[in-house]
Amino acid sequence: DWTTGNVIDEQVAAIREQVGDKRAICGLSGGVDSAVAAALVQKAIGSQLTCVYVDHGLMRKGETEQVEKDFVAATGVQLKVVDAEERFLKALAGVSDPEEKRKIIGREFIRVFEQAQAEIIADEGPAVEFLVQGTLYPDVVESGGGTGTANIKSHHNVGGLPEDLEFQLIEPLRKLFKDEVRMVGQELGLPEEIVQRQPFPGPGLGIRIVGEVTKERLDLLREADAIAREELTAAGLDREIWQCPVVLLADVRSVGVQGDGRTYGHPIVLRPVSSEDAMTADWSRLPYDVLGRISTRITNEVRDVNRVVLDITSKPPGTIEWE
Ligand code: XMP
Repeated sequence: DWTTGNVIDEQVAAIREQVGDKRAICGLSGGVDSAVAAALVQKAIGSQLTCVYVDHGLMRKGETEQVEKDFVAATGVQLKVVDAEERFLKALAGVSDPEEKRKIIGREFIRVFEQAQAEIIADEGPAVEFLVQGTLYPDVVESGGGTGTANIKSHHNVGGLPEDLEFQLIEPLRKLFKDEVRMVGQELGLPEEIVQRQPFPGPGLGIRIVGEVTKERLDLLREADAIAREELTAAGLDREIWQCPVVLLADVRSVGVQGDGRTYGHPIVLRPVSSEDAMTADWSRLPYDVLGRISTRITNEVRDVNRVVLDITSKPPGTIEWE
């Protein structure tokens, strides 16, 4: 008979048995799945687990702190945070093409993550033989079963990693659906903001700036995004919408007027969607007063933004993200 308590007890026992006195590593993305997987494994093996969080500087306002403080406070997990903002910004400098951005971010991410892994492996202590992943049941079905091991190739040029090191995978969420994962997370005492988190793409705000990604533009978008999230939450709409990308059209300017002066600033796009699985989506019919508050606040509070526009395209033909 299915209860979150049973699932947790079963998994904790299985993980203890599997890991023995060895060590495990888990990458945290800030998302629900990796957080719940890590919390479960932490409950099972405590300090034998080390989590790695790569801060690529493309996160939204408060998200890195959420992992660094709230997640650690709730779980007591051992966490290695790598501040890689400068490295990512450097790699992204001058790049506007969406696919190229995605490739660069993915490549840098793997390099930074593997470097951190190598450092953990090099630490004193028992061998690190396990890699924790937040694979869910739908992921297992989609990929036709999975292999059970992860091969860390030597060609990433990180140094310190044995050639073709093989990790055994720990995937404690393999039998669960998303809503069940959220219930387990809640039972494990994770903060509401992490457990109920909406989807957010791995490349982060890097693919929500149409144009080159710079620190200044990221800061600007972070402010606009934080305002939109704040107002949606205040209006009680978080559960109704699937997600709401906020996009900066950095390569576009339009004329506006503010106070006594003419402005020539950038538009911000709101992209609220409703969806079941992100394969298809419809634009959310948000109340006008909520949209109005978001627009007024963004144009008043965010420097260089003088226009807010609403994306009313379904998917298809639009995708949820703009890049
Ligand atoms: P699209 O834009 O393809 O997005 O309609 C579908 C869903 O996937 C998310 N998304 C990503 N998630 N890495 C991720 O982890 C990515 O590179 C990525 N690109 C899009 C998007 O936010 C939406 O939920």
